[in-house]
Order: sequence, then C-alpha cells, then structure tokens
Amino acid sequence: MKFFIDTANLAEIREAYDLGILDGVTTNPSLMAKEGITGEANVRAHYKAICEIVDDKVSAEVIATDFEGMIREGKELAKIDDKIVVKIPIIKEGIKAIKYFNSEGIRTNCTLIFSAGQALLAAKAGASYVSPFIGRLDDISFDGMELIAQIVHIYQNYGYQTEVLAASVRHSMHLIKCAEVGADVVTCPLKVITGLLNHPLTTSGLATFLADHAKAAGK
Ligand code: G3P
Repeated sequence: MKFFIDTANLAEIREAYDLGILDGVTTNPSLMAKEGITGEANVRAHYKAICEIVDDKVSAEVIATDFEGMIREGKELAKIDDKIVVKIPIIKEGIKAIKYFNSEGIRTNCTLIFSAGQALLAAKAGASYVSPFIGRLDDISFDGMELIAQIVHIYQNYGYQTEVLAASVRHSMHLIKCAEVGADVVTCPLKVITGLLNHPLTTSGLATFLADHAKAAGK
C-alpha cells in the first residue's frame, strides 16, 4: 500500500519524506488556504516547492467547476512538474475533464467521492485515482470503510486500473483497515502514519533493554 501525506505544509511534507516511506502528497483548496497560499503565482510556486521535496505524485486541485476552466487550470497545473496529478471533483464537467486529461496522458485524481456509483463513473472516465472520503462519511454515520471495500471489489470485478486512494483518513485504525480491505493508497496527516509506531510494549521493552545494557556496562 502506498502512503501519501495529506497536507500543503512544507515542514510536515519534509518530515514525512525523511521517514523514507512516503510515496506522494495530496492537497486540496482548504489545505492550501490553511497555509495562507493564495494567488495563482504563489499557488504554482508552492506546488513546485512540494514537488522538489518528494519523489513522485503530488495532487493539485482545480478550482474551476466548468469543463473549459478545469482543462485550462489542469493544463497549467500539469506544466508545473511531471509529478503533478490533477485533482478534479466528481461532477458532470469533472467526468468530461478526466476523460480529456486521460486522452492527453495527464494523470487525474477524482475527489469528493462518497458513493460507489461515483467511483464507477470516475474509473470509466479513466481517472488515475479516486479519493473516497472515509472520515467525512463516518462523521455523518455512514460507514466510510465499507465504501472503500465496495470500490476495491467493483474495480477488481472489471480490472479497472484506477487506484483507490483512501482520503479523509483521521486515525491509525482507519489506515490499518484500509490495508485490510485492499486500498491502493492512503492519504493522511503525518500523525496518522507515526501513530502506527506506537505500542506500550515497544516503549517499555526498549526502556528495559537500555536499562539492562547500562547496568551490565556498570553505568
Ligand atoms: O484531501 C481530502 C481529505 O483527505 C480531507 O480530509 O479530514 O478534511 O475530511 P478531512
């Protein structure tokens, strides 16, 4: 399973990259706004800075919601760096844009997926990734993980190449369950990844090893 980090914060991206297990980055307009990045030139420069940190796959979202606007913005984003994946919402115009970008060899990430039907349409249009939002479904008492499993199953039935990129991953158990049901990618904050490290028996076991070593060495 691939690990992407879901942030536009350069320090957090660097820290995740330094762990040596990072496969990519996803952003969205809210995450860019959180970093105070506004204006076309600043947005482009920020995406370039992200691309310079990581080895591959940086999702950059279009703001336009009409076909022409999405194509124009998506082409500009794709020009920033070969690592850019154009992120497009699952709306009617978005499906057309994904189809277009697919024919142009530009990778896309179809976002705001909340149903299997939406994921099916995105795959048929040729999206490179679909982003179903687990946490936001859980927030309203729908089972986000069930949706991930459903999409994985449907894509396997028909051999769709679209990768299931589980998004809105809020905690480490979400990530582990994604691995169990066969999501191709998870994107999440750094703390969800580092949370995988935690186990009280590891902490106490290491403390004992170090204490025993110090005692034997007469320290
Ligand atoms: O990037 C989309 C998604 O990961 C957002 O997550 O926590 O805002 O629902 P969240």
